[in-house]
Amino acid sequence: MGAAALSVAVWRGGEDGKYETFTVPRQPSQTILDVVTYIQRQLDATLSYRFACRVGMCGSCAMTVNGVPRWTCRTHVDNVAEGDKLEIGPLRNMPVVKDLVADMGEFFDKWARARGQFKPSATKQDPFARIDPRSPARQEADAGIECIGCGVCYAACDVVTWRPEYLGPAALNRAWTLVNDARDAGQPERLAAVAGDAGCHSCHTMMSCTELCPKKLSPTRSIAGLKRATWSLALTMGDEA
Ligand code: SF4
Ligand code: SF4
Ligand code: FES
Repeated sequence: MGAAALSVAVWRGGEDGKYETFTVPRQPSQTILDVVTYIQRQLDATLSYRFACRVGMCGSCAMTVNGVPRWTCRTHVDNVAEGDKLEIGPLRNMPVVKDLVADMGEFFDKWARARGQFKPSATKQDPFARIDPRSPARQEADAGIECIGCGVCYAACDVVTWRPEYLGPAALNRAWTLVNDARDAGQPERLAAVAGDAGCHSCHTMMSCTELCPKKLSPTRSIAGLKRATWSLALTMGDEA
């Protein structure tokens, strides 16, 4: 463990806010969320931030820590502090509501635009679907299914910054899991939704999303799958024309 106290610069206010510095006692096994909670409970009760589960399941606690988007409940201070310094801000690529709270509305609207909703192909009167867990399609779906919707990948993606209409890695990863779900009846509308100008072909394969995803998913791989699938669809439609 390093210094006995941390110097923590925390974003205050909306888009036009600024950093305010707090001194926080350093503790063993301290997480970034512990630091933010200490500030809110001990130093300034008006600090706004978001969390729920504290165990890496809900995806609500992501923030920018020393310039890098991270889930904060499972990010240890010892792994990211620069000496005794921390800078904690809201996720980028999203509007700032207040302090450390980013507005995730557009992020989740893009999941809907990418047809991220399961569309059943059977009714509750039908027998359960039998899905072979070893089938290539199910393994593709399983590889992306553990997304917790934290927005870390979206905040890390420069294409989202350059092209705000780009659906982004999380929504496209979700679409790919459904493309590979044999029970879903949403194809080919889903492929058409992700093939447009704002879709998978805008990805520059820069890998920031995959490098930073706290669940170790690879949206880049999912997007590559969508690129192949939409090319195949275009070729099929070309054959029919
Ligand atoms: S691989 Fe694609 S989606 Fe992921 S960060 Fe890079 S450009 Fe964005
Ligand atoms: S793909 Fe990973 S980084 Fe992106 S929202 Fe899902 S869990 Fe978070
Ligand atoms: S508080 Fe739920 S993932 Fe961090």
